[in-house]
Amino acid sequence: MKANVYLNKRDQIGKIDPRLWGSFTEQLGRSIYEGIYQPDHPLADEDGFRTDVIEAVKSLNVPLVRYPGGNFVSGYNWEDGIGPRDQRPTRLDLAWRSIESNQFGLHEFMKWCQKVGAEPDMAVNLGSRGIDAARNLVEYANFPKGTFWSDLRRQNGAEEPFNIKVWSLGNEMDGDWQIGHKTAEEYGRLAHETAKAMKLVDPSIELIASGSSLRTMTTFGEWEETLLDHVYDDVEYLSLHQYYGNEDNDLPKFLSSSVDFDGFINDVVAICDAVKARKHSSKTINLSMDEWNVWYHSHAADDAQKPWQHAPHLLEDHYNFEDALVVGGLAITLMKHSDRVKIGCLAQLVNVIAPIMTNAEGTPSIWYQSIFYPYQQVAKYGQGISLNSQVLVDSYSSGSNEVPYLDTVSVYNPEQNEIVIFAENKSQDNMQLAVNLNGFELGTIKEATQFAGYDIKQTNEDQVMQLETLNDVKVVTDKVQAELQPLSWNMIRVKVNN
Ligand code: AHR
Repeated sequence: MKANVYLNKRDQIGKIDPRLWGSFTEQLGRSIYEGIYQPDHPLADEDGFRTDVIEAVKSLNVPLVRYPGGNFVSGYNWEDGIGPRDQRPTRLDLAWRSIESNQFGLHEFMKWCQKVGAEPDMAVNLGSRGIDAARNLVEYANFPKGTFWSDLRRQNGAEEPFNIKVWSLGNEMDGDWQIGHKTAEEYGRLAHETAKAMKLVDPSIELIASGSSLRTMTTFGEWEETLLDHVYDDVEYLSLHQYYGNEDNDLPKFLSSSVDFDGFINDVVAICDAVKARKHSSKTINLSMDEWNVWYHSHAADDAQKPWQHAPHLLEDHYNFEDALVVGGLAITLMKHSDRVKIGCLAQLVNVIAPIMTNAEGTPSIWYQSIFYPYQQVAKYGQGISLNSQVLVDSYSSGSNEVPYLDTVSVYNPEQNEIVIFAENKSQDNMQLAVNLNGFELGTIKEATQFAGYDIKQTNEDQVMQLETLNDVKVVTDKVQAELQPLSWNMIRVKVNN
């Protein structure tokens, strides 16, 4: 099969915000306990953080981490997680039917973020709580000193304010599974008043309003419109969440997820802009795709009722090769929307629907899932300006979607003097790829890799998967030529001289 891609240096989508490659760690299952934090583990540092996990997260280049939830935040008292550890209360976490020891809280999270080099995206509880808890948390975290909450922070060991910039106004408030689930009208009013109070404490913060939990929610569309009517002037971002699964064991359909994802983003952009027009506003609302991933392997195990437990094994999907292809396709879609999607969070980071898995004891202490590899490459090399492309390739039909066999985006990184081509071959055939890069003076190939050749159901507990060199990639004047293996994820970095 042949694929011809046409790009022009002047035809740019937009700069990729580095925060697009963020992730998420919720007080859920073994994400925190036995994941990030395990004081009795031989690899724990002086703060109880697992150094193997810190190194793995650093190798992923994660710029931002959302915390503490997720569904968890809608029943959470942030005050439970501060102060001397031996005085923190143990509580029932109703969202995940677990026991929460609160041994890990705000200060631990902030210290951990510093160690991995990520900025926080802090969610406030708009389920069981509201304005007061949220504005007190902003005061505790960001106010320098001399007030009750800021001085309590200093007493608890943080003299300097945390200066948390990005805040999420609740989580999935449209879902009836959420503690404190609300109608769009109820949530819109509460989000507006909470945003007002939070910004009165610290006007420099950026806020994310909770959009739909999934594109298939019956309230989708109406939820966004009603919500934005209330909060348009208060927030910078509207969130979207989307997970995909292959429950029908239908690979072509599963691989069409990136097309659905693209449609979802287009729909939400259209709604934001319709409200903008109706309000005669000059402000543009950007998007935060703050939960995205494949999630379905663990559903059956998680549905089985278990006794109340601390750090139970929950949402521990073991990802296979086809999942990695889907994650790669979704990442390409995000880059194609870099003009509007500014924040993204692969959900999640450690043990819970995650690229990184840990063992509580023994060796290996840690292992990487199949999805680790495309995520690592986009987080590292999906930086710069994404370019519009015209893609000429065959396509197939899946449901109402027409799915091109090639998913691709190219990113121009002027700081590194390079173009990075991400290309996923969704067909069962070899693909002769030609990328025409108009307006660029191309130099040599800096690096070319492929993730290919595995059985689609292959998982990576034994750490057999790896990126390999993609051979025979050629530069012919302003064209890059390569042969892509069937069902493969590829990345090509080309030097540019202008
Ligand atoms: O990421 C797992 C869960 O998925 C989150 O807690 C929730 O926000 C979503 O439904």
